[in-house]
Amino acid sequence: GPREDLAGRHVVVSAGGTREAIDPVRFIGNRSSGLQGYALARTAVARGAEVTLVAANVTLPDPAGAKVVRVESARQLREAVLTAAEHADAVVMAAAVADFRPVRQSDTKIKKSSAEPDPIHLVKNPDILAELGEVRRARREAYAARDAAGGAAGDVAAAGGREAGDGPGAATQVPGDGPHPRVIVGFAAETDDVLANGRAKLERKGCDLLVVNQVGENLAFGTPDNAAVVLTAEGGSVEISRGPKEDLADVVWDLVAQRLA
Ligand code: C5P
Repeated sequence: GPREDLAGRHVVVSAGGTREAIDPVRFIGNRSSGLQGYALARTAVARGAEVTLVAANVTLPDPAGAKVVRVESARQLREAVLTAAEHADAVVMAAAVADFRPVRQSDTKIKKSSAEPDPIHLVKNPDILAELGEVRRARREAYAARDAAGGAAGDVAAAGGREAGDGPGAATQVPGDGPHPRVIVGFAAETDDVLANGRAKLERKGCDLLVVNQVGENLAFGTPDNAAVVLTAEGGSVEISRGPKEDLADVVWDLVAQRLA
């Protein structure tokens, strides 16, 4: 690619929109096309990254050079993203994940009857972005505890770190290159109080960058153009004026590459 500033980096991008089954032929879904996530995957490949693209119900052709994992539901997306994130420098959650799913999925097609239809009861889906931040926070604590104990490099247990009272080197061996993913990026669509709502969401979800889409003026869903403001964990913001989703993707990777440098 023109800039190889992501060479040697492994990045994970989620794209598209999840579907939550009601019965074998029906689902609750959303209008996400996957265009922004695919643009992120393409531009990351062009900048030299190893890219895992977790695609939820996207009908676009696979981007050349990316490893594509296809999923349908939020729970499948969670599994694929958390697995890929174990070895990732950065994760960008561009997918529209369903907040809720039906409590029960009928094994057979629900029939039309003369009686009133049964209501569909919903339960909350896991928040994958928040979970990524939580997993990393736990790992950071484990590393900090190791450093405070003067432990050797590479001795932080993947799940929670050493037990109190363990001597140096007693914890499980994991790669000693720090808690991954080093950069976590979320997306948010806000219609009002964009900055205040975005800032609160960034903090709630524990991500490093939050790309806040300005929705509601023929932007974002299903269109080739996007406009956004990227909020940073340090309290900064970067405005991205309306333009191709590729341009927005390149600004996101600029900010990710800066944080990885
Ligand atoms: O809370 P909200 O849905 O606005 O957050 C959007 C961001 O959180 C996106 O990056 C989306 O991929 C992620 N998300 C998630 N798991 C959910 C809901 C949203 O990872 N269950």
